[in-house]
Amino acid sequence: MRVKVLVIGGGAREHALCRSLSLDPDVTSLHCAPGNAGIGGVAELHQVDALDGAAVAELAVSLGADFVIVGPEAPLVAGVADAVRARGIDCFGPTARAAELEGSKAFAKDVMAAAGVPTARSYVCTTADEVDVALDAFGAPYVVKDDGLAAGKGVVVTGDLATARAHALSCDRVVIEEFLDGPEVSLFAVTDGETVVPLQPAQDFKRALDDDEGPNTGGMGAYSPLPWADPKLVDEVERTVLQPTVDELRRRGTPFAGLLYAGLAITSRGVRVIEFNARFGDPETQVVLARLKTPLAGLLRAAATGQLAAFPRLRWSDGAAVTVVIASYNYPDTPRTGDPISGLADVAEKDEHAYVLHAGTREDDGRIVSAGGRVLSVTATGSDLAKARDRAYRAVDRIGLDGGHHRTDIAAKAAGL
Ligand code: AMP
Ligand code: GLY
Repeated sequence: MRVKVLVIGGGAREHALCRSLSLDPDVTSLHCAPGNAGIGGVAELHQVDALDGAAVAELAVSLGADFVIVGPEAPLVAGVADAVRARGIDCFGPTARAAELEGSKAFAKDVMAAAGVPTARSYVCTTADEVDVALDAFGAPYVVKDDGLAAGKGVVVTGDLATARAHALSCDRVVIEEFLDGPEVSLFAVTDGETVVPLQPAQDFKRALDDDEGPNTGGMGAYSPLPWADPKLVDEVERTVLQPTVDELRRRGTPFAGLLYAGLAITSRGVRVIEFNARFGDPETQVVLARLKTPLAGLLRAAATGQLAAFPRLRWSDGAAVTVVIASYNYPDTPRTGDPISGLADVAEKDEHAYVLHAGTREDDGRIVSAGGRVLSVTATGSDLAKARDRAYRAVDRIGLDGGHHRTDIAAKAAGL
């Protein structure tokens, strides 16, 4: 297979995807739109409004791309993958209707109920009275979720009734649910709508500060594998969560082909789904792809073309990967942008097993400056988590970003520290 690939998006996830694709001998040319300053090092960048399906499809046609991969959720929910396929180009990413699994928490709950997938009990509320009944039914800690897409910031988990109530009333439609205790796991599966191929599990750190303090973010770091997890976890989740969900969506006439992301809580009563996403997670993708030895383009193309049943077993490195996100001043509130970044060349030169994936960066007069809340995702591999973690933090220490912040405890507990 020789393939010309266009990746849509411009975060660290897309940088990780492009990095893997650039190492895949089948990929003859690699394009990304809109990309970022780091992705420009491995792919040719193009300007496009990623939410405009017609524009993305037109770009793919004009480049002669054989295969398009849509990274973020917003274009998927907007139907960008449908628009690309309508022009006869293979595309990795679910239809707009299937992407509702992420786009609407109420829809996801409905699918899970029909498929018998274990998740938190919940109420969907649209009035203040319904909100009060639901908050009272579950008690503290309260879990209140905006029904629509909110870039990881629509969820409030709090012990304070007034805060929970205020968030609920600020949303048009809200899902209020039972609190799930226990560690979280992100498990991704590549699917063609029928066959499900799970990847290796990872753990994300959602809170802004060490020890899981501070507000929820898009994710401040991740690691894989999970030495503490039951070795049967992936099989169990495939059987009880991933396959039933894919089967239910196919049964409804809206098959889901693309990346199905299960956010799970390992509770004392068993595995429960916290949320589904319809795309690769960020920052978990950075560590999962760092360990995947199977070339990426063939795998994703097999999913896009209904060929997964015949796809060879995935190959993984036995080692570990850790990524640490460097965020802007004031992220996740109102992040400051435009700050110069230093030390990137230093990492490239001195850290053989670490590399910097760009999240929100752009080039400004030959300098690389911050351009978003999450700025860099510093990733490293090693024979075990402690080594990978050490290398990632050594690289983080070489990087300068005024007012920037990062967590210092990514993978610490899992590495036995
Ligand atoms: P979500 O966007 O649904 O993944 O929620 C963001 C984060 O809020 C999750 O990663 C959890 O840390 C937390 N969260 C969401 N739902 C629950 C729940 N039912 N119980 C406990 N924590 C939750
Ligand atoms: N890491 C969380 C997400 O991608 O939604």
